[in-house]
Amino acid sequence: GSTLQAAAAESGRYFGTAIAANKLSESAYTTIANREFNMITAENEMKLDATEPNQNQFNFTNGDRIVSWARSNGKQVRGHTLAWHSQQPGWMQNMSGSALRSAMLNHVTQVATHYRGQIHSWDVVNEAFQDGSSGARRDSNLQRTGNDWIEAAFRAARAADPNAKLCYNDYNTDDWTHAKTQAVYNLVRDFKARGVPIDCVGLQSHFNSQSPVPSNYQTTLSSFAALGVDVQITELDIEGSGSAQADNYRRVVEACLAVSRCTGISVWGVRDTDSWRASGTPLLFDGNGNKKAAYTSTLNAL
Ligand code: XIL
Repeated sequence: GSTLQAAAAESGRYFGTAIAANKLSESAYTTIANREFNMITAENEMKLDATEPNQNQFNFTNGDRIVSWARSNGKQVRGHTLAWHSQQPGWMQNMSGSALRSAMLNHVTQVATHYRGQIHSWDVVNEAFQDGSSGARRDSNLQRTGNDWIEAAFRAARAADPNAKLCYNDYNTDDWTHAKTQAVYNLVRDFKARGVPIDCVGLQSHFNSQSPVPSNYQTTLSSFAALGVDVQITELDIEGSGSAQADNYRRVVEACLAVSRCTGISVWGVRDTDSWRASGTPLLFDGNGNKKAAYTSTLNAL
């Protein structure tokens, strides 16, 4: 294939990107996005603060713009995200206990219902575990509603959109030996054992010098897959430049392609200038839309 999406499709996989609604009017941006990618994640527009700015008053304007652009160009959509400690609207940040539990479940139900039939996979819950060596859940208002909040969110999502794949998504879960990776693994194993609906695990895979592509990355992907879930690389970006960066992208692609249940890779933005990383050049296209060495190594590895 001569594009990322075409090359990925040769092995039955997708290649995606995060898209920002406010850039959909910029043709330099949409030309690359439309040509190279076939799975679209809204970078911010489906998050809790965007979709429910006031309690039980939903705003799908910008999320709908992204879904409409994606579907009219023949692309699939990854929903991101239904339940998360971050980017909560103010009203939710101030809630707790059973009122928050109900509000969270209402949010999951309403948003998943609005997009029913249009979402390939939902990141139902994002970033619920702590960093570091504890393997514990992250302390958050959602966690304080009870340890079963994650499974409650997954059950509500399944009821609202039975055909969407339901994923757990997190970062720093790439190194198989990390406590956080093991904690997510144990959550998924427990869900599968008890019949809690879960179909996939997303590894965000934001890599930099503090958090490099681990040598055991393929082991992590294959270990999750062995639990009976698909795995996806959901927010890939890798700090650096030149051949070192290109080499790291190649390693990520090779790890995914070696695992049959690694079904797709998404990068977290189109050009370096679109990246959420304030400084740095972590993506596949430079600010002028030129293909970087990392683009070529990614394409060649697919
Ligand atoms: C980031 C967006 O890229 C930024 O525009 C926003 O200001 C903050 O969130 N993990 C996730 C994504 O799951 O939703 C985050 O996206 C990046 C880290």
